Amino acid sequence: MRVLVGGGSGFVGRSLTRLLRSRGHQVTIISRRPGQGRITWEDVSSKGLPPCEAAINVAGENILKPLRRWTEQYKQEVISSRVDITRSLTLAISRSRTPLRSLVLLTGVGYYPPSRTQQYSEDSPGGDADFLSRLVRDWEAAAQIPLADGKPKTQLVKVRSGVVLGRDGGALPAMLWPFRLCLGGPVGSGEQPFPWIHIEDLCRLLCQTIEQEGGSDAILNAVSPSSITDTNASFTQALSQALGRPAFLPVPALAIQALLGQDRSPMLLEGQRVAPQRTLQTGFTFLYPDLNSALAELLR
Ligand SMILES: NC(=O)c1ccc[n+]([C@@H]2O[C@H](COP(=O)([O-])OP(=O)(O)OC[C@H]3O[C@@H](n4cnc5c(N)ncnc54)[C@H](OP(=O)(O)O)[C@@H]3O)[C@@H](O)[C@H]2O)c1
Repeated sequence: MRVLVGGGSGFVGRSLTRLLRSRGHQVTIISRRPGQGRITWEDVSSKGLPPCEAAINVAGENILKPLRRWTEQYKQEVISSRVDITRSLTLAISRSRTPLRSLVLLTGVGYYPPSRTQQYSEDSPGGDADFLSRLVRDWEAAAQIPLADGKPKTQLVKVRSGVVLGRDGGALPAMLWPFRLCLGGPVGSGEQPFPWIHIEDLCRLLCQTIEQEGGSDAILNAVSPSSITDTNASFTQALSQALGRPAFLPVPALAIQALLGQDRSPMLLEGQRVAPQRTLQTGFTFLYPDLNSALAELLR
């Protein structure tokens, strides 16, 4: 299959691109910068899409850049790199002569309202609790492909991911050094849910989604099965055990609030208990269903 990967140069995109190629697909990356094997978002808007059967969009400005202040401009970049970029892709899909079989959009479980007790599946309501949930709502709405007369419909799958655990990016490498120095500990109370997925499982799920024949529109939660009970404290304990280091120094909630502000601190201080209910119903099997198996592999 010929597959376009928006944001294919990033942490998730690099792993996804490798996996797609290893499964025999031809990948073209959509990026802000031109290069070999790439087209730019400007190309997509001005020239349309190259011939392809599927597109997977994993682009988005990093929300948690530690050295950048959360200004109005940064916030707009975070929104625009998701909502406007996704809209430009769906517009190009609706204009393309041969319709794509499928479009897959990677968003986040931040769609569901933060809660320590409520359990969420793909059918649960959300999208208006806070900055993050409204962002996911608008981002997913931008993926709705305008229907064109007489053309077969493109399947739209929205994949809502938890924290992606991998070696080459995302949250885990940043957490490792304090833990290795015995300075690790839970964030805030540690009681907040910790929905997560191993990067290999996430990329396998994204691949399966475009490879399954005759699929229909869907929302899939990309979280490990154990995410329904995992908390920040259980993650801290599992990481501490895997590294053989104590982790007793909590990161105070006030420090996180001061550093990240009202829009972003819920990403670390709150969370959602999420189940991959429909994901499992598609027949998907997780290679890393719990924290111990995932961390054992990632810290090998
Ligand atoms: N990592 C996680 O734990 C996690 C969890 C849930 C959801 N997600 C979502 O999954 C997506 C991928 O995450 P990631 O960790 O792989 O992110 P990443 O490493 O920061 O990469 C994302 C890619 O998006 C493109 N991008 C960045 N800023 C952009 C901007 N202002 N305008 C247009 N494109 C921009 C970049 O590609 P170019 O430089 O080539 O343009 C970049 O390589 C994001 O949307 C993220 O919100 C991630």
